[in-house]
Amino acid sequence: MVPISSAIVGRPSRVYWRWFLEPSVSFPAAEFFTIYCIAGMEWFYADVMDQENASFQIFQLIWPGALAAQAISAVARIGVADAIGRSPESVSELAKTTGTKVESLYRLLRALSSVGVFTETESGHFAHTPASESLRRDHPQTTHHWAVFLGAHWIWNSMGELEKTVASGQSGFKRLFGEDIDLFMAQNPDQVEVYNNAMSSGSRMMIQALLEVYDFSRFECVVDIGGGQGELLKGILEAHSGLRGKLFDQPAVIASASVLTEGDVADRSEAIGGDFFESVPTGGDVYILKGVLHGFTDDDAVSILKKIRSAIRANGRLLIIEATPETSNEVNPRKAFMDLLMLTLTAGKERSEDEFRSLLIRGGFEFIQSRPTSATNAVVEAKPI
Ligand SMILES: C[S@@+](CC[C@H](N)C(=O)[O-])C[C@H]1O[C@@H](n2cnc3c(N)ncnc32)[C@H](O)[C@@H]1O
Repeated sequence: MVPISSAIVGRPSRVYWRWFLEPSVSFPAAEFFTIYCIAGMEWFYADVMDQENASFQIFQLIWPGALAAQAISAVARIGVADAIGRSPESVSELAKTTGTKVESLYRLLRALSSVGVFTETESGHFAHTPASESLRRDHPQTTHHWAVFLGAHWIWNSMGELEKTVASGQSGFKRLFGEDIDLFMAQNPDQVEVYNNAMSSGSRMMIQALLEVYDFSRFECVVDIGGGQGELLKGILEAHSGLRGKLFDQPAVIASASVLTEGDVADRSEAIGGDFFESVPTGGDVYILKGVLHGFTDDDAVSILKKIRSAIRANGRLLIIEATPETSNEVNPRKAFMDLLMLTLTAGKERSEDEFRSLLIRGGFEFIQSRPTSATNAVVEAKPI
């Protein structure tokens, strides 16, 4: 296999290469975004800084970087990774299985194999590499849903508006679609699945990392606000048999949330539909906001916090799970590019620890601590004041 980083810069990147080689190494879905969309930045800084030719350096980022992103998303949507098992498959068989044109599919797979996603074992036959295998839907840490999500037309086209977004401050999404994501989703049910699948897959990968740094055993009732389809809540409840849980999200999302109706957690959980700008379920002693606040302006984020403040028990805790809030002006590409995605899609942003502190105070909470996790996110813990 030709490793992506070798193909790009001639020698393996220190961090990402480990993930390609060792499937057992934690590989959060959110990281996949880093790898194929922005990893070039780290490769660039880690491996190419010593190259003399500045234009060569830029080319490593945009060629194949920019093209590889959509190629990976397309191959995920087409379902090629699922169609290849333990042994190589001929491209004509793959084209038949996936309903695609043999020659076009061959060109797609050949391009991807040049950067370590699939490998051509003999002419016209492709097998998995660790990277391509992670695109299988049944992979324990599947990257499939994030690959589909990040290449979806509404994200891809919105990102194409970046220059205008930077000039105007208006998100590319709003420029193109004239509405916010919730309204867009209501009118595009096929994309709801794409969105929810990516969020759920990210949450599944985050569960272990969260449980490693935060002890839920002292609580009675956990409420996940904007909790999507309930994967994170399910994982927390499964780890703590004495805990009850409430999932809160928009009614349409709750309607498609079935994971809490299965198994041992079914009797200890309920799913409630509503609008967190109006009210949130009461009675919890730990409230979670994962990946929610970064989609909103400060004023909207404060409104959500105030609703939680009026519902939480006096001795309760609020956990905000988002990209690690840095305390210095260090540049973290994972967070910085997530912030760029927020600029592209929403009116929100990634926040620093100081920004969280002041947001929390405005919402009636006091910052306690920020705990990094082994995944891309940190846990900001706060208590009511
Ligand atoms: C980025 S997703 C995060 C989902 C989940 N917490 C996770 O990390 O996988 C934001 C969630 O907030 C929900 N949401 C957005 N606006 C909402 C509102 N006004 N009331 C309740 N939930 C809302 C969305 O439906 C979505 O599930």
